[in-house]
Amino acid sequence: MSNNIALDLGTSNTRIFTSAKGKVLDEPSVVSYDADTRDIIAVGTEAYNMIGRTPGRICAEYPLTSGVISDFGLVEDLVSALLHKLNTSKLLMPKVVACVPGEITDVEKRAVVNAISSIGVRKVYLIEAAKAAAIGAGLTITDSHGVMIADIGGGTADIAVISLGGIASSCSVKRAGNYMDEEIVKYIRKKYFLYIGTRTAELAKMTIGCVCPPEEEKTFVMKGRDAVSGLPRSIEVTSSEIMEAIFETALNIVKSISKVMEETPPELVGDIHTDGITISGGLSKLTGFPELIERVMKIKVNIPENPSDCVINGCGKSIPYINAADDINSTIINPLVEAY
Ligand SMILES: Nc1ncnc2c1ncn2[C@@H]1O[C@H](COP(=O)(O)OP(=O)(O)OP(=O)(O)O)[C@@H](O)[C@H]1O
Ligand SMILES: [Mg+2]
Repeated sequence: MSNNIALDLGTSNTRIFTSAKGKVLDEPSVVSYDADTRDIIAVGTEAYNMIGRTPGRICAEYPLTSGVISDFGLVEDLVSALLHKLNTSKLLMPKVVACVPGEITDVEKRAVVNAISSIGVRKVYLIEAAKAAAIGAGLTITDSHGVMIADIGGGTADIAVISLGGIASSCSVKRAGNYMDEEIVKYIRKKYFLYIGTRTAELAKMTIGCVCPPEEEKTFVMKGRDAVSGLPRSIEVTSSEIMEAIFETALNIVKSISKVMEETPPELVGDIHTDGITISGGLSKLTGFPELIERVMKIKVNIPENPSDCVINGCGKSIPYINAADDINSTIINPLVEAY
């Protein structure tokens, strides 16, 4: 029985998959630590609950930004603590399939590999996020028929057209869900002179946010600090207001999908026209996003079951390709691109 695992180190959430059990862990990519001693206090959900609520020396942070590592040490701590939550004795020295965003530099790629290797894994195999998402969504990527996938998460929107196991055209947008949260924070500060935290902004985006004019106006109560008096204050915001704050970011992602389509060879465009575009990632659940893409692109949009899990499931489904990746004589189309 192999003890290999798959890891989706996402900007917002980290997910782990084992061949035996499928997805075994899904927690926010957050670490809280003592700023003076650098001692880790909590990781994952526990650390997420501390964001914006920590006293003086304690910091609670996302150590990845736009899909790449912004604090190397913290990512190491995050990965090792999350893996520790699994029964590590059974996972001694596993091989790991990990995904990376489409457009990252070799240095950034290396950082991901090193952070994972540092916790004692034997070898790390990389797969592009969009390819993993397509496999996880159940699309066939190995024949000559083209498929288009957009995995839209917290830090990046990875868009790609794939055929014969390779990427025909692609784009990785660095402004996605988290950027929308920041836009909401700015909007509320400007319009209501109220300071709110990004967690409140994210909750509003998930509960009442939309990117198509809402059929029914919903409201959300936001609590924060008055910018002038410094005192606590609450306001009620509507779906239309959240849409005003986040629409540009959503439209920018749709424009990138359109750009990728323009760069795609015409035969493959024909395939996509017939089958539609598949979207995955947490942001694909944002109300009105599929409709916005359909309206601009004039192509149907498919959403797989559990869109947030497509990438980790695709990484997991690629674990069996590890042996072929190690075999230099193998001629099969392998979704795993590089091994370290
Ligand atoms: N129901 C929902 N409505 C709107 N947004 C949502 C919903 N559920 C999740 N999100 C947003 O999706 C984003 C997280 O998506 P996901 O878990 O796919 O990201 P990630 O894989 O961690 O990041 P990335 O792949 O960009 O590095 C967050 O911005 C979150 O607010
Ligand atoms: Mg992701």
